[in-house]
Amino acid sequence: MSGRTADVGPGPAGRRNFLAELLAIACGGLATLAPIGAGLWAFLDPLRRKGAAASFLPVTELSALPDDGVPRQFAVITERADAWTGFAAEPVGAVYLRREKGSGTVEALSATCPHAGCFVEMESGGRCFRCPCHNSTFTLDGGIVAPSPSPRPMDALECRVAKNGEVEVKWQKFRAGVAEKVVQ
Ligand code: FES
Repeated sequence: MSGRTADVGPGPAGRRNFLAELLAIACGGLATLAPIGAGLWAFLDPLRRKGAAASFLPVTELSALPDDGVPRQFAVITERADAWTGFAAEPVGAVYLRREKGSGTVEALSATCPHAGCFVEMESGGRCFRCPCHNSTFTLDGGIVAPSPSPRPMDALECRVAKNGEVEVKWQKFRAGVAEKVVQ
């Protein structure tokens, strides 16, 4: 009789332990990667980034804005894009632009009501702005006409005329319902 013993390897209990350890390592790895992935998503996606830098957007030609001191409404249109997808140009808001007689500079007001975000309209006579939601009234330069539910005047936006004659507005949204003008 020989003293040799056959090499039979780990038994069923050993294999079960090995598989359990492997599973635990895989689960631990997934649990670590999930928050990292979520953080990366929020970091890379500009649409989800709070306070993403506002940019100047072309709104109209200076020649399309009469210098009669009467505000005209224009849509603000932009092409949204994130790290993976581009979207077609779409309106993101509206502004009132106003130019005084003989002036080459333009004043811009956001058409979003500072009270609760409704859309401010020009009164039919063209003498003031009125919000249809709760009746806030504003002068043509955006000042509050008291009494007014709106806690602050209409939000002025930075505006410039580019070399090619396009009127560009720095499009920003502000927190509604507060007296201070706070960028959203
Ligand atoms: S949202 Fe404009 S008055 Fe309330």
